[in-house]
Amino acid sequence: MYLMSSYQNYSGASHTYDKTRAPVGIEVIRQVLADGPVSLQHQVVVDGGCGTGLYTAALAPAVGQIEAVDINPEMLAQARSKIASAGYRGRVLFHQAPIDLLPLRDESADAVMVNQVLHHLPDNAAAGWPNHARVLREFARVLKPGGTVIINSCGQEQLERGFWFYHLIPEAVQRMKEKVINLEALNDLLWQSGFVRVHRQVPYSIVLQGEAYFHAEGILDPAWRSGDSIWSLVSESDLEPILERISNLKSTGDLGTLVQQADCSRSRVGQITFTIARKTTD
Ligand SMILES: C[S@@+](CC[C@H](N)C(=O)[O-])C[C@H]1O[C@@H](n2cnc3c(N)ncnc32)[C@H](O)[C@@H]1O
Repeated sequence: MYLMSSYQNYSGASHTYDKTRAPVGIEVIRQVLADGPVSLQHQVVVDGGCGTGLYTAALAPAVGQIEAVDINPEMLAQARSKIASAGYRGRVLFHQAPIDLLPLRDESADAVMVNQVLHHLPDNAAAGWPNHARVLREFARVLKPGGTVIINSCGQEQLERGFWFYHLIPEAVQRMKEKVINLEALNDLLWQSGFVRVHRQVPYSIVLQGEAYFHAEGILDPAWRSGDSIWSLVSESDLEPILERISNLKSTGDLGTLVQQADCSRSRVGQITFTIARKTTD
């Protein structure tokens, strides 16, 4: 089986992705890894769905080796060139592969991190998220006993209240909520897949798109929109009036007020959640 995103075209987005994305929350990941059973500089870390390599590049100087895996060749090409120009080539191995079939040996990794990827898995919530379960079992297979898994995803409430522009696209948010596994179900699947000590961290101040998130007229730019896969779920006919409204607010000077009002619940819920667990040693 080949579990590929059915809605976001990452080949198209690969050249613009880094304009609105950064390895946000990397300090949480670094700390969680540092608390693991093996010292940080000796750890082998899998970056599942590494994309353009933002997290790989941020972590490479601190760890022993990174296995950077992505299904999309264009995203991987961006990651390769980023790592080469940063001079970390010796520490990173790249693999074009799906995260449910990692080309890695059993019990060969100290940690797996997966940042903003799971919502791309085609899956069936009514059937209990079988493809998510398959991916988590694959992570358990490649991890050493006691190894760490860190999943960076958005909770349902974060999708509802954590992003100012989601107010403009309620139907796409609904569609996205159906694709995003809720955090309780993720917890249960982790337990069922051989993980223990499951817990969460919410970095409330972190904004997924960095400074670009506050640049409201960015919505008018397809490159800006390609930084959040939710825009792939907005139909052309729904997009048109939104762009018109943003253009009007821009010309009247009211865009800032819109952002301020629509963004007020973000600080209470945050945008992303890290779900952290260790593979059982039994
Ligand atoms: C939103 S991007 C995140 C990239 C990176 N982790 C980051 O946070 O910057 C999602 C990435 O997951 C990859 N992806 C989606 N489904 C995948 C799968 N089943 N196996 C491997 N990679 C996958 C996409 O190709 C894309 O590069």
